[in-house]
Amino acid sequence: MSNFSLLITNWYRQNGRNLPWRQTTDPYLIWLSEIILQQTRVDQGMAYYEKFVRHYPTVKDLANAQEIDVLNDWQGLGYYSRARNLHFSAKFIQNELDGKFPQTFKEILGLKGVGKYTAAAIASFAFGEVQAVVDGNVYRVLSRVFDIDTPMDSTAGVKEFQKLADELISSEQPGEHNQAIMELGALICTPKPVCEDCPLTEMCLARAKQTITNRPVKSKKTKVRNRFFHFKVFSDQGKTLIEKRTEKGIWQNMFQFPLEEFDTNDNSAISSLRDNQSRESAEIIHVLSHQRIHTVFHHYPFLPEERKEHWIEIEHEKIQDYPLPRLVDRYLEENTID
Ligand code: ADE
Repeated sequence: MSNFSLLITNWYRQNGRNLPWRQTTDPYLIWLSEIILQQTRVDQGMAYYEKFVRHYPTVKDLANAQEIDVLNDWQGLGYYSRARNLHFSAKFIQNELDGKFPQTFKEILGLKGVGKYTAAAIASFAFGEVQAVVDGNVYRVLSRVFDIDTPMDSTAGVKEFQKLADELISSEQPGEHNQAIMELGALICTPKPVCEDCPLTEMCLARAKQTITNRPVKSKKTKVRNRFFHFKVFSDQGKTLIEKRTEKGIWQNMFQFPLEEFDTNDNSAISSLRDNQSRESAEIIHVLSHQRIHTVFHHYPFLPEERKEHWIEIEHEKIQDYPLPRLVDRYLEENTID
């Protein structure tokens, strides 16, 4: 066992958090937790994990669920393709694999929505397979302890960090080693690290060279796309109109008020949405990893004569029966429809 592994696993045994998905070796539950945690913080993900375990305790329960219910339970977590892939893969496991969760890294990697990190996490936590995880936490820890300046988002960097992680992992306790390195990145070797409490201070090269704040190195700035969403909130006698988002991309299969999207916030484009009866909300900016969604809700105290075919007329109090993007849900928490 490397000294690195010994130090972090000892530290982890004393300081690791007692999280619910760490009390099980059921690959289904570990998979569920890892998908939830992919773009979600532990404190937020916890309640969702518990809800999913309650509603869908086995892969069979999830496979037999309706997608609309799964999306409804996911509501608020964002990045809904995670929920759709989870449901799709549960059906695949149930129908094509006789309900038996795949048991090796290679087979787990074949599930939709599962990349190398998640497959390594499941294979090591559930089956004790020696597969090193590399996630954002691991990039931080390794780039600092070994003072590596290869950009983590370059092909060379991805290779180099994976190779190093593979060399360091304990072959006796791969699951615990993986939990430990991620936990160290989550609690100690954070963007603003707490070096006083770190079990690796003595071997940390970036600390010695004072390069910690410059590690890890990233080559590209993420490009952000600005989008301009205008929702039309029609209302008359307790009724409103909604539509289902069917196209690929954000919020697929979720429901929203009829939307007009523009690629500019130029007033002349938007003026077509205004009339003397309408009122509109202030702009709300919803930030996703690669998009900024500038949103305005336009309220109209009537239902339009002319309707798009896919618009659905509902009682507005029924709107919570439909999976809604967090942006829309949050707006409804603070505003009434009419
Ligand atoms: N983030 C991703 N996977 C995790 C895990 N197993 N424990 C804590 N945080 C995590």
